[in-house]
Amino acid sequence: MLLVGFGVVGQSFAELVVSEGAKLGRDFGLRPKIVGIVDSKGAACSPDGIDISKALDSKMSSGSLEKLGAAYRPGMTGLDAIQETDCEVVVESTPTELSKGEPGLSHVRTAMKEGRHVICTNKGPLALAMPALMELAHHNKVVFKFSGTVGGGTPVLDFAKKCLEGSDIRSLSGILNGTSNYILSKMASEGSNMKVVLAEAQKLGYAEADPTYDIGGFDTACKLVIVSNYILGTSLSLKDVQVKGITEVSNEHVDKAKAKGNTVKLIGRMEKKATVSPEEIPITHPLNVSGTFNAISFNTHPAGEITLVGKGAGGKETASSVIRDLIEIRRTFAR
Ligand SMILES: NC(=O)c1ccc[n+]([C@@H]2O[C@H](COP(=O)([O-])OP(=O)(O)OC[C@H]3O[C@@H](n4cnc5c(N)ncnc54)[C@H](OP(=O)(O)O)[C@@H]3O)[C@@H](O)[C@H]2O)c1
Repeated sequence: MLLVGFGVVGQSFAELVVSEGAKLGRDFGLRPKIVGIVDSKGAACSPDGIDISKALDSKMSSGSLEKLGAAYRPGMTGLDAIQETDCEVVVESTPTELSKGEPGLSHVRTAMKEGRHVICTNKGPLALAMPALMELAHHNKVVFKFSGTVGGGTPVLDFAKKCLEGSDIRSLSGILNGTSNYILSKMASEGSNMKVVLAEAQKLGYAEADPTYDIGGFDTACKLVIVSNYILGTSLSLKDVQVKGITEVSNEHVDKAKAKGNTVKLIGRMEKKATVSPEEIPITHPLNVSGTFNAISFNTHPAGEITLVGKGAGGKETASSVIRDLIEIRRTFAR
């Protein structure tokens, strides 16, 4: 395997490979060997497998992979590593970027063209070019998995695809961004001011330094595109979603909703069209989850409304979805 991106998700995945290694081998016949790791400064490559503990130590102490000695290639890029490393699977976990989807989009495309299976936790390439990437994976006969892009460790995509097989899923709606939900929850429960809660969320590491992506509704929109294309068979990209974030939600608006037995939530919804906007829902509604939780409701026939709730992000949680994707790839080729 080649890990492109070695931040919160990449490192959590490497830790899981070490801590869960015996179980993965015993239960799934899976013995992941990491032959390359790339970050923004360079790469470490070794056909015999990288010493994962050393890589984690190096990253922790120096912020780079330089302590891997002879394996370290300063300045080596993700594209070089994908082309030059002999590996079956590429895990793409570089930062989400929504204007061009780079560098993730080129990483994913190149990996597929090189015949590598791809596991992607980065929403950018999918939000901008999911139909083309699905087609490219099919054309190159590789598996493309992206469970970690929606719901972190909560298996939103596979739940709907596998467990609801045979049901007609007619529409879906969800709370898909933990930061916005944390802010709205605090405004409702404590009457807090949005700016104050946002600063607190940034301090706690829930929100990015630039909050536009979360509170502007774009993170929710990316996830809506991915889940809608995967589950409902649409061919959306980010530009097709009508997006309104929570920046204009006032304490007065939240209090008025509360007086009516309602609460204000940022909802991504795919019915006739794809929308993201603050909506009032009854406090008894299954989507009324608090804090950083995510929830998604599938409107199904004949089973009715089915809602899945879970933690929407986190390094370990998202890394667990990468493990699930890896198991799925292994299963596909063990048949
Ligand atoms: N964290 C979560 O809970 C979570 C949940 C679901 C999905 N995701 C998604 O997963 C992806 C990774 O998230 P994260 O939290 O792990 O991000 P992160 O901590 O910022 O890590 C990003 C990694 O990508 C590397 N990188 C940046 N530019 C690069 C380039 N041009 N070439 C190669 N590597 C490059 C960084 O290098 P340096 O180490 O040198 O800076 C870093 O190792 C993001 O797209 C995010 O949206 C994250």
